[in-house]
Amino acid sequence: MPKADLVVVANRLPVDRIEDERGEPAWRRSPGGLVTALEQVMKTVDGAWVGWAGKAGLTVEPFEFDGTQLVPVSLDEEELESYYEGFSNGTIWPLYHDVIATPVYKRSWWDSYVRVNRRFAEAAAEAVGEGGVVWVQDYQLQLVPQMLRELRPDVTIGYFHHIPFPAYGLYSQLPWRRQVLEGLLGADVIGFQRVADAGNFQRSIRRVLKFTTKSDSITIPQPDGTSRTAVAKAYPISIDAHSFIELAKDPAIRDRAREIREQLGSPSKVLLGVDRLDYTKGIRHRLKAFGELLVDGKVKVGDVTLVQVASPSRPGVEAYQDLRDEIELTVGRINGDYDTINHTAIRYLHQGFPREEMVALYLAADVMLVTALRDGMNLVAKEYVAVHTDNRGVLMLSEFAGAADELGSALLVNPHDIDGMKDTIMRAIEMPESEQSRRMRSMRRRVLENDVERWGQKFLADVEAFRAARTRRGED
Ligand code: F6P
Repeated sequence: MPKADLVVVANRLPVDRIEDERGEPAWRRSPGGLVTALEQVMKTVDGAWVGWAGKAGLTVEPFEFDGTQLVPVSLDEEELESYYEGFSNGTIWPLYHDVIATPVYKRSWWDSYVRVNRRFAEAAAEAVGEGGVVWVQDYQLQLVPQMLRELRPDVTIGYFHHIPFPAYGLYSQLPWRRQVLEGLLGADVIGFQRVADAGNFQRSIRRVLKFTTKSDSITIPQPDGTSRTAVAKAYPISIDAHSFIELAKDPAIRDRAREIREQLGSPSKVLLGVDRLDYTKGIRHRLKAFGELLVDGKVKVGDVTLVQVASPSRPGVEAYQDLRDEIELTVGRINGDYDTINHTAIRYLHQGFPREEMVALYLAADVMLVTALRDGMNLVAKEYVAVHTDNRGVLMLSEFAGAADELGSALLVNPHDIDGMKDTIMRAIEMPESEQSRRMRSMRRRVLENDVERWGQKFLADVEAFRAARTRRGED
């Protein structure tokens, strides 16, 4: 396999294994936000992508897909449980999302996380060319930067953290808090979604490692008495806004949006929630607020419908199984009490949909509800804004989602405040078109200016500055 100048390392490969028409295994580009985000970047370089092929026990040789070298890393059943469901999604995920669920600290999970991170680091070290760049993605791989630096000191390393980084008071619970920080500091550039995340990270560095930080930079003492610098700052991720706008213009998708409204019984207002089925997303809080509005008689079935898409996620993790039960019980109760033969209060869909159908749903919705209790960014909020080229529609957005930093013209809510949420839902339902348009216009400007291409360019420009400095030092 030829060596690549840019290697992305992520928990998952950007493709899903499917069966083609003849029942043969084949690969299809995955629909996720990260893949879409990096797709643009990878098209322009000589790149490789290291990641898990998405199925335990599956071992696949490196192959080319759409001009990118894909390097599959295999995980067995036990590693899937201990590294992915365990340490990544049972320890780090809840801890970094402000302990909304209780993190579990298990030494065997940690051991597996170290082992699997080493496997990813070795695969990246193998794939990257002399003096190349490796860009590590997210919380599943926090140890990779340092492991890679030891294996390949010639390489420039970036790391982007897609989820929140918690305040020190919470982070300090982690029994392996020192090792994780040391792992991340192997990178030259460490990117976060929000300025507050970068600040939390820097504070942990000062408290745990006693290193000095100044503005965006961290001074890291080296064993030989010298020091090196790393940058830790915010690079808020975004969407490929233009591809969403193109879909929004497609007559077939616009027809589908009209059809969705009709099939819902032509309510005067359609509210929409689109989330992975995850306890961080505040789906229960949203249902509670909506349910109480029905009880209070403020909204009437037939007049207002809530469509809730909850795409299946991490079904092997107990907290997700419990959440699914709770949500489905709540939806069943509300619908049981309020549905009529021809209208439903909540149209609940525990399914994932292709992007075309998502855009039709966004277009069909008068109000988008993003009520996350904690969220790194929330790209759904940006997608909803991008497709509303007529400047209609209302975004209700949790202040605890990273997107709130940029989308200050949304109706910002605290999802823990159920009365506040109820008032804001009513305000959204009743908002005059002139106000919708003013708010939407300003949000759309932000999303279109700061799209994912810009995000990638900004991050990689900072990485390139480190690479150039390394080259200069090598020439001295
Ligand atoms: O938002 C964090 C993230 O890990 C994304 O990178 C990913 O698309 C999403 O959550 C889904 O997670 P998983 O890979 O565990 O299904």
